[in-house]
Amino acid sequence: MQPPISLAIFASGGGSNAEAILQHATTSSHFSVKLIVTNNAQAGVLKRAENHGIPAMVLDKTEYRDGAYLVKNLQDAGIQMIALAGYLKLIPVELVRAFSGRMVNIHPSLLPNFGGKGMYGMRVHEAVIKAGSQRSGMTIHEVNEVYDQGKILRQVSLKVQQNWLPAQLQQAVLRLEHRFYPLEVEKVAQKLHTQTN
Ligand code: GRF
Repeated sequence: MQPPISLAIFASGGGSNAEAILQHATTSSHFSVKLIVTNNAQAGVLKRAENHGIPAMVLDKTEYRDGAYLVKNLQDAGIQMIALAGYLKLIPVELVRAFSGRMVNIHPSLLPNFGGKGMYGMRVHEAVIKAGSQRSGMTIHEVNEVYDQGKILRQVSLKVQQNWLPAQLQQAVLRLEHRFYPLEVEKVAQKLHTQTN
């Protein structure tokens, strides 16, 4: 049996999804989190990495744009799969290609609705409420070269309650994210792990 798949999590903010994946990894035989990558030296996710004893890589302005640099560093660290969890920078195309079929992202709406450039964080939930959508939810997808347009792996929806403020919708969607993202990461990792054995 090969060792579990080595996962890197990319996050720019608080990292509650990163935390859910880190927790799940403690009982997974298919993947372990080997690296946290961020473009933000103040990101809350760095504290989480420290708490779990996982190394972190803080990318500066030049580094996060440099595909060759990222591919080399991730390969040197033995990374086999990437989960984006609230990572706000565009992934350079070299990295997307190097991890084709092995990079996943989570988006807090039912793609293709409310996705694309500029649609992140609270902006997504504000737009959903403004549009009067009856349902919203989360989408987990593979990452390709266009923002939020990779193959959809899983979508789960919820009813948008009348009078909900964007922050309430965000909390409800986040609960879905924390429940389903680790499971989907596990599923992709399991497939990769089975292939390496
Ligand atoms: C989540 O809503 C996720 O869907 C989106 O960014 C947010 C990250 O939240 N991509 P957190 O940092 O995991 O709390």
